[in-house]
Amino acid sequence: MKNKLEDLRKKILEELDKAKSGETLRELEIKYLGRKGELSNILRAIKDLSVQEKQEIGQLANTIKNDVTAKFNEIKREVEGKEIAADFVDVTIPGKKIARGHLNPISIIQAEMEDLFISLGFLVADGPELESDYYNFEALNIPKTHPARDMQDTFYIDKKNEQGEYDLLMRTHTSPVQIRAMQKYGAPLKVVVPGRCFRSEATDARHEHTLYQFEGLLIDENINFSHLKGILELVGKKLFGEQTKLRMRPKFYPFVEPGSNGEYTCSLCGGQGCRVCKYSGWLEVIGAGLVHPNVLRAGGIDPEKYSGFAFGFGLSRLAQLKYGIDDARLAMSGDLRFLQQF
Ligand code: PHE
Repeated sequence: MKNKLEDLRKKILEELDKAKSGETLRELEIKYLGRKGELSNILRAIKDLSVQEKQEIGQLANTIKNDVTAKFNEIKREVEGKEIAADFVDVTIPGKKIARGHLNPISIIQAEMEDLFISLGFLVADGPELESDYYNFEALNIPKTHPARDMQDTFYIDKKNEQGEYDLLMRTHTSPVQIRAMQKYGAPLKVVVPGRCFRSEATDARHEHTLYQFEGLLIDENINFSHLKGILELVGKKLFGEQTKLRMRPKFYPFVEPGSNGEYTCSLCGGQGCRVCKYSGWLEVIGAGLVHPNVLRAGGIDPEKYSGFAFGFGLSRLAQLKYGIDDARLAMSGDLRFLQQF
């Protein structure tokens, strides 16, 4: 009897140690401690023993019962604790952050510019990146033999047209869409054209073979230079702040007459002079002018009745200035460390 009890104690404690879930524990409880359990059976048998044995075995049986019950409760607390911990959801913990993509700074500037011009009643147009020689040059008053072609070298497509000429190229600017928009919509017209352009450049910190421009064209009766200046001043203030000033000086572009460049006071030094503006206080970001009569004609618009202005911003350059990016090539590098800053 004594041995039986000791064996039972060992067996119960061993099995308890192995118990991992509340369910096995409950099974063990019924099997050993329950009314019909093995321990109860032994206890019940005590009444048939001699008086001396009763005392001895009874005592042992009681200690064993107490030991086993204590162990039971201990394991039960442990297992239940673990189960609660596993089930526990702390609804106050902030959720895991989902990584968000970042807009390229050029896209940010483009969206800002589009918003501004849409609010002024312009439409936003698009044009092909693979252009014909005609739209990119000829129609913009740049004949084949004209030295102005040297200003914008590009990538030509190795395919001849019916006349045996190579006339497909990657557009060098967004200006060809001036012609396309005039042909499509006629006058009066207010349109802006953001887009990707290409130049065969030796790339450096300020030049890329792939660049983004933002073209503008407004055609109506009696349009003059002051209208152009007013719009460009507005853009400068919107992008770089109220204190921004505009300076326009003559510059030759075959498709405008008079032609001009446009400079804003350097946003980084406030016009004091710094490395970025090459200590001049001014930043050249615009080409602009009044639309050349030949260009209006190419677009099917009568230059006797209508006049207009056109401008082209370097979006890549604007982004560089607005965000103080010292190398133009970063915007196209695909380097996430660069993009994550915006
Ligand atoms: N297309 C010119 C360039 O890429 C910029 C420009 C646009 C100039 C419109 C005048 C008018 O350099």
